[in-house]
Amino acid sequence: MSLRVAVLLSGSGSNLQALLDAQAAADLGAEVVLVVADRADAYGLQRALKHKVANAYVPLKRAHDPAIRSAWEQRLADVIAAFAPDLVVLAGFMRVLSANFLQRFPNQVINQHPALLPDDGSDTVRTEAGPVVPALRGAHVVADALRLKLPITGCTIHRATPEVDNGPVLARTEVPIRVDDTEETLHERIKAQERRMIVAVVQALAREHAQGFA
Ligand code: GAR
Repeated sequence: MSLRVAVLLSGSGSNLQALLDAQAAADLGAEVVLVVADRADAYGLQRALKHKVANAYVPLKRAHDPAIRSAWEQRLADVIAAFAPDLVVLAGFMRVLSANFLQRFPNQVINQHPALLPDDGSDTVRTEAGPVVPALRGAHVVADALRLKLPITGCTIHRATPEVDNGPVLARTEVPIRVDDTEETLHERIKAQERRMIVAVVQALAREHAQGFA
């Protein structure tokens, strides 16, 4: 049985597209069974429609109200659980998910992060290229890398834990920063690596899953 994947996103969904393209080429070993967005204008929802993948918009209004937020998380988890995914991919999902949510999908949620994160949860990363760089966490890490004038940044896929942008690393790629980089040019180079990496990670998890059923 192929690995069932739910993708959560807030925006363009070019990483989703990479998964859908690999699936269409019968090269993923997995099936994207659901796409969920917290924004109605997330282009990723259009990509899902085009590929005839079930999709849902689960809006969060008044995100700062804890009761509303927890009811939203509950709804989100219920929608996802109805599709019985083996894997939940946070592919540009710009909301922090609580321990309660993660407990519904134990060890099944992975997160894409557009910066380098370390294996040991520390605050620095030793790059293969040499320099030690800070582990950038949060929602603005591409801009942070430029502001800090880092020589190198990159991207990471890790298992999601209640600690934001932490958790066991599954894959990481370094991306050198050019002197003339803008946030856009740098993010686009990072995303090119992210698209390659998410396909490789899902393929690897799909192989593990298939062995479990052998
Ligand atoms: C990716 O760079 C991903 O790492 C980032 O959003 C982008 C989504 O691109 N995620 C975060 O910043 C999560 N905090 P896409 O919509 O084109 O797939």
